[in-house]
Amino acid sequence: MFIPTGDPTVDHYIEKGYGTVRGMSSQFAASIGAALLQRQAELGLSGHFAEIGTFEGRFFIAMALALQPGEKALGIDLFDWPNDRVMDLLLGHCARHGVGPDRHVILKRDSRTMAPAELQQALGGGSVRFFHIDGEHGDEALTKDLALALPLMHPQGLICLDDMLHPAYPRLVDTVDRWLDANKDWQVLMIIDREDIVAAAKYVLCRRDAVSLYEDYLLQRFEKNVFILGGDFLDHIAVVLTPYPRLAEVD
Ligand SMILES: C[S@@+](CC[C@H](N)C(=O)[O-])C[C@H]1O[C@@H](n2cnc3c(N)ncnc32)[C@H](O)[C@@H]1O
Repeated sequence: MFIPTGDPTVDHYIEKGYGTVRGMSSQFAASIGAALLQRQAELGLSGHFAEIGTFEGRFFIAMALALQPGEKALGIDLFDWPNDRVMDLLLGHCARHGVGPDRHVILKRDSRTMAPAELQQALGGGSVRFFHIDGEHGDEALTKDLALALPLMHPQGLICLDDMLHPAYPRLVDTVDRWLDANKDWQVLMIIDREDIVAAAKYVLCRRDAVSLYEDYLLQRFEKNVFILGGDFLDHIAVVLTPYPRLAEVD
């Protein structure tokens, strides 16, 4: 499901170009991700976009197009799956969809072996306001990717975790729980469902004191996509957005 953001360049890509770039993230998630970048710009919050697991750039291009002048999109991937042509495909898609080399930094690396300083250097300084973690979905890798992201984050920035509650990775949320226990100033702001009330959602995390910057905005802007029960994290209810909100029908 595509939800217009009001930015013609971003909307054109998400509506018409998104399906031409192979990848796994949904149009719905890209619409909301771009809207979150817009919200941050409205708040005067600046910074880069970074992604671990860029693959051919489906989600990456949408986010890069939604950045403000001077901000960069950093993409990190092993770029070896399904073959060594994937990085060329990414660069071709970026060029075709208007993300020039002045706007992106691409690193062919194993994120698990990287240090935050390397990312900072690649970006030429500045913090990250939206970090999408979509690399290897294991406990060790996600723990390392979160450790890589955290020092780079803008104080009011967002960390978005892909494939939460995916049937193939049912224990990955345990890793997130542990990370949240160790980082008590962070919480799950929202859950972006994929294309229906099924698994494989994205979690969007932010610091607790930044929740008010986004929460009401999301509930109003995506009013038609709010799942009324929200997500019960025991100490708070996270916003849940889903393409077709409804409760299970019971007789
Ligand atoms: C599910 S795909 C990403 C899909 C993409 N974000 C999208 O929205 O279409 C996962 C990617 O993570 C990459 N990856 C897996 N482990 C990695 C690691 N340790 N470091 C960097 N990239 C990794 C894979 O090469 C693959 O391209």
